[in-house]
Amino acid sequence: MLSAQERAHVAQVWDLIAGHEAAFGAELLLRLFTVYPSTKTYFKHLGVCPDEAQLLTHGQRVLEAVGVAVQHTDHLRAALSPLADLHAQVLRVDPANFPQLIQCFHVMLASHLQGEFTVQMQAAWDKFLTEVAVVLTEKYR
Ligand code: HEM
Repeated sequence: MLSAQERAHVAQVWDLIAGHEAAFGAELLLRLFTVYPSTKTYFKHLGVCPDEAQLLTHGQRVLEAVGVAVQHTDHLRAALSPLADLHAQVLRVDPANFPQLIQCFHVMLASHLQGEFTVQMQAAWDKFLTEVAVVLTEKYR
């Protein structure tokens, strides 16, 4: 559970992302596929050009889901339930991929926000994204 201070850090960063979900999301995916090539096997249908329409669309969907989670930090399980069913039961994404996505998320934020991305914000986002990943992977059991 995030503290009030951590929630504030998460919301502050989200304010900087909101409205740019497609661009931030596409960069997140490109970093993921490049740094951890095994993740690309789940996305054979996506190209790897930063302005490719399908990459932007999927990036936007992922970031919009993160935006929903930002609005529901105290009720992640309920808010993300359909997405958890999809990842665990339909897509069967190996949970080992989630820490890799989280690492790329931090780098994506740092590269865009630079000095605005404080260590406290990184710590809060790490905790928040880990909570999201726990919810998206726990239905395997
Ligand atoms: C689909 C979010 C992590 C693989 C999706 C969708 C969303 C989403 C919103 C679209 C759902 C729909 O169309 O109804 C997230 C979030 C994640 C996450 C918020 C973590 C914070 C991952 C990871 C992988 C992955 C780590 C694998 C490396 C997929 C695949 C699809 C998908 C293969 C289907 C893509 C398609 O049909 O084109 N995800 N995801 N996801 N996700 Fe995730």
